[in-house]
Amino acid sequence: MSLAISFTAEKTPTKGSLIIAVAEGGKLAPLAKALDKTTGGAISQAMKVKKFTGAAGASFTLLAPSKTTLDRIVVIGLGDPKKLGNTDAEKFGGTALGAVEKTDAPVTLLLEPMRGALTAADFAARAATGAMLRDYKFEIYKTVKKSAAGPKKLTIATSELTAARKAFAELKAIAEGTIVARDLVNEPANILTPAEFAKRAKTLTKLGVKVEVLSEAQMKKLGMGSLLGVGQGSKQPSQMVVMQWNGAAKSKKPVAFIGKGVCFDTGGISIKPAGGMEDMKGDMGGAAAVTGLMHALASRKAKVNAVGVLGLVENMPGSNAQRPGDIVTSMSGQTIEVLNTDAEGRLVLADALWYTQKRFKPQFMIDLATLTGAIMVALGQEYAGLFSNSDELSERLTAIGNAEGEKVWRMPMCETFDKMIDTPNADMKNIGARYAGSSTAAQFLQRFTNNVPWVHLDIAGTAMGSPKTAISRTWASGYGVRLLDRLVKAHYE
Ligand code: BES
Ligand code: MN
Ligand code: ZN
Repeated sequence: MSLAISFTAEKTPTKGSLIIAVAEGGKLAPLAKALDKTTGGAISQAMKVKKFTGAAGASFTLLAPSKTTLDRIVVIGLGDPKKLGNTDAEKFGGTALGAVEKTDAPVTLLLEPMRGALTAADFAARAATGAMLRDYKFEIYKTVKKSAAGPKKLTIATSELTAARKAFAELKAIAEGTIVARDLVNEPANILTPAEFAKRAKTLTKLGVKVEVLSEAQMKKLGMGSLLGVGQGSKQPSQMVVMQWNGAAKSKKPVAFIGKGVCFDTGGISIKPAGGMEDMKGDMGGAAAVTGLMHALASRKAKVNAVGVLGLVENMPGSNAQRPGDIVTSMSGQTIEVLNTDAEGRLVLADALWYTQKRFKPQFMIDLATLTGAIMVALGQEYAGLFSNSDELSERLTAIGNAEGEKVWRMPMCETFDKMIDTPNADMKNIGARYAGSSTAAQFLQRFTNNVPWVHLDIAGTAMGSPKTAISRTWASGYGVRLLDRLVKAHYE
């Protein structure tokens, strides 16, 4: 792992693996055409034999092509150049790296053909981003049989060298932030305890992020009975992490991001069935995305004031665990009857949201949480569920999600759903009825927003167990970092 990516002027290399992009129609661009000539027409001949037309994702490899000193020439189809967008360029970069992932020679990408709506620089930078994300593997615990190390050097040949470097400097921050999130989600819960998570968040200090960690005693003083109730059955002390990136004038109100950080969710006394429970090591995917986002914002020095708050707990059964029927008092003063200890994420977020709006008076709050199984039933793994009291934020996130390949789908909230969490015994209960489980969870959260513009992203389907794509081969996608970084970039800097 750890791929060094650089850019160079458009020229044909003489060593290693060369990857050529060919648009639909199968026409070779000038440098590729010249190379084809050198090889005595080997490339165009192979295209014919393979019936290669340049369809998106189609590819073939020529090994040790004659009359050259190259190891291989890989030809990859781009599809219709008129339809090429940012995510297509990233997919291309991912596919390109995938084609040589078992080799160790330096790789050069030659990006000559038409780039559709993209500039050559953006195409090159996006391809680099795709390659970087594709390269990610989680193998720190494999000591015997690691997969092939893959190429260590990727050079991208582009006609817009300076602009490509500049564009990539920014996109690289997003990719690095995504990788931070992936690593956190992939880590097992015996390693990534709340305290260890807080320790890792602390390392953002080196990027200029101010990081505070609140202990259980401090949270108790603040009245966070809702969050603390979830963690009380675990030997691992709960933690709250507060990160601040100050990239704008002091007078500017911050934007705030809040992450569910359940380092492991057994369900507590309302214990989960054994099958698939191991996935609940990823129940801190929201907190991971917020950490990755703060990493991205700080490393690209975003001109924004941003706050990241993580509620870190472990939800365990045990002699001190919270019981079904317990009534807890949240920091807001509202009381909650805990009817199912497995609906713990909302209990953690209740105090994290209240604390955030009270302390920081943010322009808006966006929380991310692997909150409900129901959202996976509704939206699968393609869309995160979006719940909000703000049409403006919802529209912005929907548009950016579509453009960047981290999609959201707005889900309903209403008075009737809100009533479903009323209970005779306290101000509210932590579960609704049988139906609309993701919406009643969102209504619960809304009661702790104090009417601040707010979005809740239910990322249970998108953060983990992720399908393999051209730019992600790992269990944890790192969903959310890119979406929120681009939101900040487009509207809040
Ligand atoms: N962390 C889970 C939700 C989840 C399930 C995330 C599967 C990712 C994959 C959450 O804490 C939970 O247990 N939710 C319950 C809520 C129910 C008890 C009201 C659920 O969705 O079943
Ligand atoms: Mn749960
Ligand atoms: Zn959970």
